[in-house]
Amino acid sequence: MRLQVFDSATATAKAAADRVAATLQADPGLVIGLASGRTPIPVYAELRRLHAENGVSFSRAVTFSLDEFAGIDADHPGSFHSFLQQHLLAAVDLDPTRVHFLNGQAADLDAECDRYERIIADAGGIDLLVLGIGVNGHIGFNEPGETLAARTHRVVLHDATRDDNAARFGGNPAAVPREALSMGMGTILKASAIVLIATGAHKAACIEQAVRGPLTTRLPASFLQTHRHVDVYLDRDAASRLSSPNPERG
Ligand code: GLP
Repeated sequence: MRLQVFDSATATAKAAADRVAATLQADPGLVIGLASGRTPIPVYAELRRLHAENGVSFSRAVTFSLDEFAGIDADHPGSFHSFLQQHLLAAVDLDPTRVHFLNGQAADLDAECDRYERIIADAGGIDLLVLGIGVNGHIGFNEPGETLAARTHRVVLHDATRDDNAARFGGNPAAVPREALSMGMGTILKASAIVLIATGAHKAACIEQAVRGPLTTRLPASFLQTHRHVDVYLDRDAASRLSSPNPERG
């Protein structure tokens, strides 16, 4: 894992966006996986700016959303479909036929997960995957547990994750769906390159575990250590437990 630490969340987002834009300019047909959540909001804002002001074009790119809540409409304000439309897709020149989402309202959710794996494979796999991390170490919606799923799959969300996602559901954790669909750990680890972004002191512990801790299904992000090409973009707060050799004592 290659770590880069920046002075502020803004500088972290700018560097991550520059990385995505540079990769896209080198390979205009890039297949990009896109996370939702608060962390990538300034990254996507910077990508919108780079599109508007610097001519960075997404016209030949392909995108796949990392995950989605089950049981809500695509245009529900809490859906990741709405999130990505709002923060990135509506403002850049992506071809709508190359933009892919998980359908959380599919009649057969398992078949929907299979369909997603198929269309990712048909696109040639994900070239660059933009990831955030949950405070419990989840990536996508791969929650900590006894086991992890390799492929895109249905997930029962942990209460902590539902609490964390309440803001887009009127601040009410009970309104957050109990289930979601997510790319699996294998889907994620098959991406050619991964950009993991974390900002804020509340991410310091999970980043420490993900980067320095043992590989464990209890902290799904720890498996990123096994990937050959992961760039971790951190602000000083998120990196704060990485500087001390014995953080638990210090
Ligand atoms: C959600 C998403 C993840 C995201 C995580 C962290 O659970 N499924 O993909 O990384 O939240 O979100 P935030 O960036 O808001 O801390």
